[in-house]
Amino acid sequence: MAVVNFKGGSGKTTTASHLAQYLALHGYRVLAIDLDPQASLTALHGYQPEYDIQANETMYAAVRYDDERRPLRDIIRKTYFAGLDLVPGNLELMEFEHDTPRALAERSTEPFFGRVATALGSVADDYDVMVVDCPPQLGYLTLGALCAATGLLITVHPQMLDVMSMCQFLLMASDMLKVVQTSGGTLDYDFIRYIVTRFEPADAPQTQMVAFMRSLFRDRVLNSTMVKSTAVSDAGLSKQTLYEVGRENFSKQTYDRAVESLDAVNGEIERLIAQAWGRAA
Ligand SMILES: Nc1ncnc2c1ncn2[C@@H]1O[C@H](COP(=O)(O)OP(=O)(O)OP(=O)(O)O)[C@@H](O)[C@H]1O
Ligand SMILES: [Mg+2]
Repeated sequence: MAVVNFKGGSGKTTTASHLAQYLALHGYRVLAIDLDPQASLTALHGYQPEYDIQANETMYAAVRYDDERRPLRDIIRKTYFAGLDLVPGNLELMEFEHDTPRALAERSTEPFFGRVATALGSVADDYDVMVVDCPPQLGYLTLGALCAATGLLITVHPQMLDVMSMCQFLLMASDMLKVVQTSGGTLDYDFIRYIVTRFEPADAPQTQMVAFMRSLFRDRVLNSTMVKSTAVSDAGLSKQTLYEVGRENFSKQTYDRAVESLDAVNGEIERLIAQAWGRAA
């Protein structure tokens, strides 16, 4: 699954990290992939992107065009979460955006849009689910993730400017993916879902915006929403997720409300996965 939107701060990393941990806690073998040079997902899992991750130790190493290319298996790191492994990221991921135009001009190697899929495919037997955290831009890596994914999760904060920005993202993505398809790329999604993030149910304009999205996108908007909670942002301050922080650090009501919302979102995605596998109850 790829978690995408080029709107910065729409909740991609929060969604990806909690989903990956939720699935690992529920017994799935999970690979979390950080495609963002900002590497927040990596930092959340205990690796300092600028100190702990050296050159050629990110996804870039597995998709690069030259002889330094490495198998993805050698790049994957364990996390302290049982069942959850990580492909870390750091600034090096930017290199792929610089290399690709040159490689496209040469036309002699596997095109950019298949490279993420090829790398992930090489370890597919080791995992049940892969969760890709994308950068807030529609670059070559993001397009690669869109081609590799079989499920798309589009995070959106329900405010006018954010929804307008998302519409721009969708238009651009559709244009670019058409070009990719005519060049031989394949797109095959079991599901595409919009996830309402940082939702404040007491805020009337936000509630209206969610209603508007549901009228437009219908079943493609997850029924559950991720509510805005200080428990999520406070946990983030110490590079933790809500599944890691202790309940005792918050008022019980604050913590329980956030976990309830998070579990509902993740449970719905888990059911979508089961359906895609033909295992729906
Ligand atoms: N449900 C929530 N409640 C409160 N704060 C949240 C919630 N979801 C995300 N945040 C906060 O909002 C900020 C942005 O979230 P996040 O990093 O997940 O967005 P992003 O889309 O990954 O951003 P970027 O585009 O920069 O990668 C973070 O500080 C995060 O802690
Ligand atoms: Mg992020």
